[in-house]
Amino acid sequence: MTSTRQTTLPTEDIRTQITFRPPALTDGAAMWRVARDSARLDLNSPYAYTLWARDFADTTVVAEVDGEVVGFVTGYRRPTEPETVMVWQVAVDDNFRGHGIARRMLDELVARTGTTTVETTITDDNQASQALFTSFSDHHGADHEVTPLFTSVHFPADAPAEPELLHRISGISAQPVY
Ligand SMILES: CC(C)(COP(=O)(O)OP(=O)(O)OC[C@H]1O[C@@H](n2cnc3c(N)ncnc32)[C@H](O)[C@@H]1OP(=O)(O)O)[C@@H](O)C(=O)NCCC(=O)NCCS
Repeated sequence: MTSTRQTTLPTEDIRTQITFRPPALTDGAAMWRVARDSARLDLNSPYAYTLWARDFADTTVVAEVDGEVVGFVTGYRRPTEPETVMVWQVAVDDNFRGHGIARRMLDELVARTGTTTVETTITDDNQASQALFTSFSDHHGADHEVTPLFTSVHFPADAPAEPELLHRISGISAQPVY
């Protein structure tokens, strides 16, 4: 488990062979690898992903092709607003991007949890993530509101981070229209 998954599968085979499921405890290591290889996400410890797979499996989705995890969405129900699922991280291996895998993981999350509201935070420069959540919102006929959430004052001065905008997608219909 050291390098990004390669594939020679044609698009149609990826679409038909992919499966979506909650993570098992043993998937934490693969989720960590996908996050690391994304070269984009804040990388947490392998322990954190394994703990997540144990305690937040109901609101987490892994995408699997040919027995290998190639993407994941981590989420949790907000303690003060449990009907809302907060998406913490989403990533798909580089070689599997552009096949609708991230969007289908979000579809699976909604179908499984029955939530009608999803939140996430995105930095202003992450166009792929913005496009993903805009597409997801559009296909579910939802409202999509963007407001500031975390700014430089919320992060340590000696470990600064980009401001994070809150994307709140509400009124999500269970069945997406494509
Ligand atoms: C963001 C990411 C998860 C998207 O995964 P993906 O499986 O390629 O996305 P999908 O194929 O499901 O695309 C969903 C929509 O987003 C659009 N999109 C995806 N990547 C895009 C890009 N780089 N530029 C513009 N639009 C993009 C797609 O065109 C699609 O829109 P459509 O339904 O209107 O056609 C992937 O690029 C990734 O892992 N990035 C690194 C990690 C990251 O930045 N995560 C988000 C922050 S937590």
